[in-house]
Parts: sequence; C-alpha cells; structure tokens
Amino acid sequence: MSAAPSPSAAAAHAEVHQRPVLEINQLEKCFGDTQVLTSIDLRVKPGELVFVIGPSGSGKSTMLRCCNRLEEPTSGSILLDGEHVTECHGRALDKMRLKIGMVFQGFHLYPHKTVLANVMLAQVKALKRSKPEAEARAKEMLEHVGLAHKASATPGELSGGQQQRVAIARALALDPKVMLFDEPTSALDPELVGSVLKVMKRLRDEGMTMVVVSHEMEFAREAADRVVFMDGGVVVESGTPDEIFGNPKSERLRAFLSRLSPGAA
Ligand SMILES: Nc1ncnc2c1ncn2[C@@H]1O[C@H](COP(=O)(O)OP(=O)(O)O)[C@@H](O)[C@H]1O
Ligand SMILES: [Mg+2]
Repeated sequence: MSAAPSPSAAAAHAEVHQRPVLEINQLEKCFGDTQVLTSIDLRVKPGELVFVIGPSGSGKSTMLRCCNRLEEPTSGSILLDGEHVTECHGRALDKMRLKIGMVFQGFHLYPHKTVLANVMLAQVKALKRSKPEAEARAKEMLEHVGLAHKASATPGELSGGQQQRVAIARALALDPKVMLFDEPTSALDPELVGSVLKVMKRLRDEGMTMVVVSHEMEFAREAADRVVFMDGGVVVESGTPDEIFGNPKSERLRAFLSRLSPGAA
C-alpha cells in the first residue's frame, strides 16, 4: 500500500461500508470425481438476508459448509469481512470460524447440560470469556429468543422449536458477523416452525447478516432481500423475492416452484 493519501477518501470509506460481509468467489467443490459446486459467486452485504432455495442435492449445504471450511473448497475464495477464510489455518481458522454462526437442521445441543450451560460453553472454551461474562451474555441471548425461563432445563425437556432457538442463542452469544442457517425448521413439527422463523425475522430486523437455506417460501417472500436458486451445483438464478417467485426466468426454477406448490404456478 502506498502511503500517499487517496484523493477520494470519502468514496473509499463509502466502499468499505458497502463491502460484503461474506463473499464467495468462483467456489468449486468436488468429492472425488464428482463436482458438486461449480463457479459459485455470492456476495452478502451488511444486514442482508439472502435466501437459498433449490432441490435436494443441489449443493446448498455444501456451499454453506465451505464458508467455514467444514468442507474444504476445491478452488475459489471465500472472504469474511474482507479476510480470506480460505487462506486461514490452525488458530487463525478457529478464530475465523467463531465469526460465522451456524444453525443446522439438528440442534447439536449437549443433552446432559442445561440450556444455560449449552449457551455458555463455546464462549468460555473458544472465546475465553470469564464464566460470569459468559453467563450474562447467555442469559441475554436466551431472553432474546424468548427462553430465559428455560435456562435451567435440559434440552430433552424442550420442544424441537425451543431447542432450535437455544441453538440460535448459542451461535449469537459468540457475536458472529454472519449467521448461516441450513434448513433450521425442517426437522420441526409444523406448529413449532413459526416460533423459530419469528426469531429469525427479528434478527433480520435488527440488522444481522444472514444466509438461509430453507423451504419456507412464505418466509422468503416476507423476509428475504434476495433469493438465490441453485440446481445441480450452480446458481441458476438470483433476484428479489418478487422476481424469483413472481417472474422466474429459467425453466428449471419454474419447474422447481411448480413442484413445491402444484397448481399455483
Ligand atoms: N461428504 C460427501 N461426500 C460425497 N458426496 C457428498 C458429500 N456431501 C455431499 N455430497 C453430495 O454433494 C451433492 C450436494 O449435496 P448437498 O450440499 O447436501 O445438497 P443440498 O444441501 O442442496 O441438498 C449431493 O449430490 C451429495 O450427494
Ligand atoms: Mg442440505
């Protein structure tokens, strides 16, 4: 970098603010000889909620998992807040991973620990917060997802929807830059889905940057800034919810949508 001040410092500043929180460039992923992601490009701006749809096996989970290197990308780059996730190793990678909150279909809570302990654990182990600090933050986040009153319960005493909200609180307690959701409501009984979506909607309204893989199309219409349609490991189409649901351009997207709600398309 040159030491000379830039003549357009204001413009540069504005650009920094528009810098994507998460940036995926030309991501490719192969499992052996099988290529499951091809030339994926995705930029998620601060506060944006990007919704990812597509048939089973289209590579949605693999894409999310590459973002925090649960899967190793075959090629391409991923940047979080301008830093290369794909070039991190060891401790630096551990640190980077903490900035990416992940919520899966299964909740992965420790069954023998209380809800409060579940939300505290990674804060103490990974972020090295003191116990009182972690406890205060855990209580705050449980309050946020409407479960302060369940702090001393064990996960088995909660409904699936409540367990998923604990998992969200646990991720939030680590102060992530972005939250990635992989079918967060798919394992839930229909009557419990709403409580989880409500928490996600609230996060969005508070300005959290989010990538959500889900089949909850009504939620997408309501809450997504942008919808990305994947099929066969490529991004086929992306646009606003109105564009994607109201005016799908590709035959593949039209077919996918009509399979979801036969008769409606
Ligand atoms: N660990 C793995 N080894 C081999 N193939 C995998 C692995 N994980 C996923 N795949 C394959 O990659 C493709 C995309 O899977 P996935 O990302 O789970 O799709 P989606 O989440 O859209 O259903 C599928 O064909 C799947 O079988
Ligand atoms: Mg999946």
